[in-house]
Amino acid sequence: MRIDVVTIFPDYLAPLDLSLIGKARRDGLVDLAVHDLRDVTTDRHRTVDDTPAGGGAGMVMRADVWGEALDPLLAVGGVLAIPAPAGEPLTQATLDSLATGDGPLVVACGRYEGIDARVAEHYRGRDDVRVLEYSLGDYVLNGGEVAALALVEGVVRLLPGVVGNPDSLAEESHAGDGTLEYPVYTRPTEWRGLEIPPVLTSGDHGAAAAWRRERSLERTAARRPDLLDALDAGALTKADRRTLARLGRVVPDGAPSPVPVTVRDAGPDDAEALAALAAATFALACPPGTAEEDIAAFVAEHLTAERMAAHIASPTAILQVAEVGTGRAEDGTGTGAGSVRGAADGATARPELAGYTLTHLPGSADAVPYADDVAAVVIARPAAELSKIYIARAYLGSGLGRLLLDSAVAATATSEVDGEPVRALWLGTNARNRRARKAYERAGFVVVGPRRFRVGDQVHDDVVMVRDLT
Ligand code: ADE
Repeated sequence: MRIDVVTIFPDYLAPLDLSLIGKARRDGLVDLAVHDLRDVTTDRHRTVDDTPAGGGAGMVMRADVWGEALDPLLAVGGVLAIPAPAGEPLTQATLDSLATGDGPLVVACGRYEGIDARVAEHYRGRDDVRVLEYSLGDYVLNGGEVAALALVEGVVRLLPGVVGNPDSLAEESHAGDGTLEYPVYTRPTEWRGLEIPPVLTSGDHGAAAAWRRERSLERTAARRPDLLDALDAGALTKADRRTLARLGRVVPDGAPSPVPVTVRDAGPDDAEALAALAAATFALACPPGTAEEDIAAFVAEHLTAERMAAHIASPTAILQVAEVGTGRAEDGTGTGAGSVRGAADGATARPELAGYTLTHLPGSADAVPYADDVAAVVIARPAAELSKIYIARAYLGSGLGRLLLDSAVAATATSEVDGEPVRALWLGTNARNRRARKAYERAGFVVVGPRRFRVGDQVHDDVVMVRDLT
């Protein structure tokens, strides 16, 4: 590959003789030349700049000087890269495209207030030249030389034969799926009281890979949440989805990428939407063959907006909702400025309720769970009941259930009844619903016995599961 860098400070580019890039040059893997812009000037002072048209501070680099320098370098076409704080952010994808492109890569380092805009415009008008105005980040440097070094190093290390082990290119940050790289460690195993995470020295490669993937997603969520929004949902494993749900993102059925989700306590304004969600999701939770009339009767009696409003108002109920959407909870619901904005531009999607949990605290610390078969197996007091966990159809398997479950457990574990901390959270679930049972087990619930649960004329065989909160 041929690379030319044009600058008024050629010495600034001396590091390109060092390390891997220097070796790549000596090995003939890249043909790199640095040119002094002033060599094309004809006046005594070797002038490259002039005052800005329209006034203002500083100096602007002259288009005619740059044209003289660039024409011969781009005679056969190629890429003209111009570093500037006003450029597009430089990404790994751009570096990948430059490393695989043909034709020379010419980097034009501006100084002062930048290069006369007609230079980019002129070369953009040529069919055989791609113009890339790029920025290293949202900060200002004195000139393009540091950005030229970054671009050249970023491109040359991708050329075949430059980096010894190509696997190391695949696993690093911004390669592959666009997540940040996991933290790395080496000997000594203990340093200043800090240990290498034991899973990495356990010899269990599967567990180490899973650990790294989780750390990678966690880091990305903490430092670059924008990258999570661009993840390809199709490439996410079940374990990835569980991790993402814990980090506040879920992948709705059929969506291209994860979306943010928040779990919060329900408020009076949520009663209607909750009843609609409950009616839609109750049927999904019934075993196959449940009579439609029985489902309808149950919904009409137990899952109305009035019932929801009563739960929301009740001091012994914990009703939490999962809200999915483009905005945060305050953008577009209620009376905040967000709803005004939503109404004004019509484009702000109102967050959608994607699921909810309803937990009942006992009326007193020693209250016995209401049904004999439950009281026989749930021994701890005070004991709360996880009465409902409903997930909208589009979010089944998205990881949202686990997020809601963990949140209900956390809210219950910090609740008190008669001044005593709640010691157990129990639930009943259909004995044949293996999927639900497994999900509860993963969240720390254990089966303690059977229960009979009535929907209309039918009696369902449930199991009682308990999560110890002590
Ligand atoms: N020149 C000056 N600041 C720059 C930046 N942030 N990125 C690229 N080139 C620059």
